[in-house]
Amino acid sequence: MKAVGLNKFGGPEVLEYIDVPEPDSIGSEELLIEVEAIGVNRADLLIRQGIYPVEKTFPVVPGFDVAGKVKQVGTQVKGFQKGQSVFSLVDIDGYSELVKVNSHLTLPFPGNLSSSEAAAIPTVVYTVWITLFKLANLRKGETVLIHAAGSGVGIAAIQLAKYFGAQVITTASTDEKLKRAQEFGADYLINYSHQDFASEVKKITEGKGVAVILDGIGASTLAQNISAISKGGRLILIGGGGVGGLEGNLHLGRVIMKSITLIGFNVHGQGTKLYQYVQEFQQQILPLFAQGKIVSVIDKVFTLREAREAHVYLAERKNFGKVVLRP
Ligand SMILES: NC(=O)c1ccc[n+]([C@@H]2O[C@H](COP(=O)([O-])OP(=O)(O)OC[C@H]3O[C@@H](n4cnc5c(N)ncnc54)[C@H](OP(=O)(O)O)[C@@H]3O)[C@@H](O)[C@H]2O)c1
Repeated sequence: MKAVGLNKFGGPEVLEYIDVPEPDSIGSEELLIEVEAIGVNRADLLIRQGIYPVEKTFPVVPGFDVAGKVKQVGTQVKGFQKGQSVFSLVDIDGYSELVKVNSHLTLPFPGNLSSSEAAAIPTVVYTVWITLFKLANLRKGETVLIHAAGSGVGIAAIQLAKYFGAQVITTASTDEKLKRAQEFGADYLINYSHQDFASEVKKITEGKGVAVILDGIGASTLAQNISAISKGGRLILIGGGGVGGLEGNLHLGRVIMKSITLIGFNVHGQGTKLYQYVQEFQQQILPLFAQGKIVSVIDKVFTLREAREAHVYLAERKNFGKVVLRP
């Protein structure tokens, strides 16, 4: 079967359209999926560069998010049938025509969604929903700061935070991205290429700061995040590698005096706890997609063969929403 993989770490040029063996067998709790769409994540770029650790020998096939049709069902799997349209979060190997998935991390998707829209969900929407609502307990009426409005994470976070009644302040590097974020419900817009976001947040919140910050930028926003957050605020840290950096200085006195809760989160580091989250997601959040109250924002679809171009597009920060590959 065809896949996109790499035999050494490096720039987009190391991604190759290659032949790899089909998965020979599946585990009793697994499904084999005929892949129709693959969500591209920022972390895929980090895997390609060798920054994101993966327990895999070359050729490494990146890809965390897939949607497609069930081709084979493991002996212990309940509730799935051959031919069903599903989406899934995988540890790796998503850039393929066929992929083995864990049935506990797989859900059928509503008929109003295309497979591209479904493949845009797992990594970013699970991360946003779990961190904002399960871990940081963002409540109706609270103000949240969401960085990088146009990122896959950002646009999902803006929609979910608004839907559940929070006030949303968001940042981006261009006015164009901010204008689009406003169309999705963002209340306050900060262009961080020429505005200091911490001072702007202080103005907007009349000096109080925001209750919650969702940050996938990293070290470069850390000090300002500590300024922009309110007493008792919750700072969610989900990324920084290949973006704003992973090593920064944190003034512990400011964290302690403000009683800030720091929440570090990796969706792939949840173990079996994620099974429960996925079930709750199916009951509480997936219906919002079915009703069109939350949407998958797809910026651009490439063929699997064009994975290099997709990586360049993301690296150049051109996307507003998700980039998808189709085999
Ligand atoms: N921990 C987890 O489980 C988890 C899950 C999903 C995502 N993440 C993390 O969340 C972040 C967003 O992921 P994503 O897939 O949604 O990203 P994405 O769609 O590629 O968007 C990333 C955005 O970050 C902004 N940015 C700010 N500084 C940047 C820099 N120095 N270099 C490049 N981009 C910069 C850019 O928007 P502007 O042009 O507006 O600056 C860029 O478009 C990443 O750090 C990712 O690793 C973590």
